[in-house]
Amino acid sequence: MRITVFGATGNVGGRTVAEALSRGHEVTAVVRDPARSGGLPPAVTVRTGDARDADAVAALSAGQDLVISATRPASGSEDQLAAATRGLLSGLARTGVRLLLVGGAGSLTVPGGTGTVIDDPALVPPSVRPIALACGEQLALCRAETVVDWAYLSPSALLEPGQRTGAYRLGADELLVDDRGVSQISMEDLAVALLDEAESPRHHRTRFTVGY
Ligand SMILES: NC(=O)c1ccc[n+]([C@@H]2O[C@H](COP(=O)([O-])OP(=O)(O)OC[C@H]3O[C@@H](n4cnc5c(N)ncnc54)[C@H](OP(=O)(O)O)[C@@H]3O)[C@@H](O)[C@H]2O)c1
Repeated sequence: MRITVFGATGNVGGRTVAEALSRGHEVTAVVRDPARSGGLPPAVTVRTGDARDADAVAALSAGQDLVISATRPASGSEDQLAAATRGLLSGLARTGVRLLLVGGAGSLTVPGGTGTVIDDPALVPPSVRPIALACGEQLALCRAETVVDWAYLSPSALLEPGQRTGAYRLGADELLVDDRGVSQISMEDLAVALLDEAESPRHHRTRFTVGY
């Protein structure tokens, strides 16, 4: 597949690029600042663009099979996530290319309870509440979208660098917890789930979640 990745220099995006390359896909990595592209694998095609720019998104997605976005604004600029989501959706509405978005866990419901993850300070401490709120808006923008074929992947509560085990479970709108009651997924296994969804699409205009 020809896959364009926004956020390719990030923690999740970098692992997504690596997973896609390992499966033989042609990867275009979008960076905002070419000076930061040095760590990308030589096999990727590097292009410059900003997800907030719908014209750039249309140009960068033309002729591609899929766009994956794992962008995250800097702390204090969380409002940029909505702008990036609007740019992606608007640009892809013109090219008809499918979008897989990596979002947040905050909007998932807590198993056995009535609330959402973002309202549980044990799962979302105050320091990450702004990005969790922004991810909620990001999901709402997707849910209002009726042209683009999008899918929104909410990670588990803990999303950290770790091992690529290749094993994971999928869910819908409820937080997944493992047999020890912990909600977690490594960034490597989240990338596996993303690429599995890329190759065999099962989710269309809906959110899904991944965990152990
Ligand atoms: N448990 C959870 O729910 C959880 C935990 C962690 C992360 N996440 C989510 O996972 C996603 C990725 O997070 P991460 O930790 O991998 O982020 P990260 O390491 O901070 O990387 C963010 C990437 O996004 C790029 N970016 C930001 N704004 C952009 C824009 N407007 N256009 C193009 N690229 C842009 C950055 O590029 P520059 O170098 O140009 O800034 C960078 O490559 C986010 O949606 C985050 O909320 C969820």
